[in-house]
Amino acid sequence: MSNQYFAIDLSSNLCARFATIVFTGTEGNVAGKYHMIKKGADDEWNHSSDRLELGENEVHIWRASLDQNAKVIANLASLLSQDEYERAVKYYHVLNRDRFIVGRGVLRKIISAYLSLSPSDLRFTYNEFGKPAVSNDQNGLAINFNLSHSAELALYAVTRSRVVGIDIEYIREDFATLEIAEHFFSKDEVAALKSLPMDQRTTGFFNCWARKESFIKAKGIGVSYPLNRFTVSLAPTEPAALLNFDDEGEVAQWKMFELRPGAGYAAALIISDPPVILKQFHWNE
Ligand SMILES: CC(C)(COP(=O)(O)OP(=O)(O)OC[C@H]1O[C@@H](n2cnc3c(N)ncnc32)[C@H](O)[C@@H]1OP(=O)(O)O)[C@@H](O)C(=O)NCCC(=O)NCCS
Repeated sequence: MSNQYFAIDLSSNLCARFATIVFTGTEGNVAGKYHMIKKGADDEWNHSSDRLELGENEVHIWRASLDQNAKVIANLASLLSQDEYERAVKYYHVLNRDRFIVGRGVLRKIISAYLSLSPSDLRFTYNEFGKPAVSNDQNGLAINFNLSHSAELALYAVTRSRVVGIDIEYIREDFATLEIAEHFFSKDEVAALKSLPMDQRTTGFFNCWARKESFIKAKGIGVSYPLNRFTVSLAPTEPAALLNFDDEGEVAQWKMFELRPGAGYAAALIISDPPVILKQFHWNE
């Protein structure tokens, strides 16, 4: 494993710091990387570039705060398409509306930077279950992406050709009940959860939830997917992994990572065709 920390400017108003983590084996835990980003300990590694390169064997993870100031929100709102704008105005609460605007606006900024397009010119298509993708005619790099948002944070995964799913969950003690686990989790997952010490149960629950969601989001078929027919790891002491699936041959085709976007959140990424190099960025306007 090798680590580098530095910062780049993608354009006059898209700035990122990121950490590079190269995974060649089975280790799946990227614990602590965001912590280092947050501390700003990477300043001496600052570099500038006009263009962001996405290698064929890479997946880039972007983290963004959805709570931005009015000027940033207005700027991002101006990038949205008509259908995104119509979705935004349907939100009753201003906070949720603004978070949606930021989530989509930042998505446009990130994806368009890879494709050297204007953010507002980018067009998304959707599969029948709502998974967004870059319109084929604009996607010379075969970019695939997925995003997730919870409370104040959004995560974006961007890759080339591979299939990807990402999920972030704000940890809520009151939601992490055995009753809910028994409804959504596989038998093996429920057993693993029950075997955890009480003080690890909430984390284990949300590890499981985020990992399962990342997989169904990679699959792109949403709620119709049979959640109890596959099993993920969940113990805080174990690496993230897809442990079993109806189609045994499929398990080896995926690589799951635990992501640590910040205190109070659980998050996971799953990507097809490992090995893959994972790089993490924090988005700043
Ligand atoms: C979209 C879905 C797949 C995830 O929703 P969610 O966890 O509430 O929300 P997230 O923030 O993680 O993801 C939403 C984003 O995923 C993307 N998305 C939408 N439909 C998608 C799909 N079918 N597959 C993958 N990604 C999808 C969108 O970009 C969306 O964001 P945006 O429209 O605001 O830009 C949801 O429809 C779903 O099916 N959830 C399953 C719920 C469940 O039973 N979970 C149990 C887990 S154990």
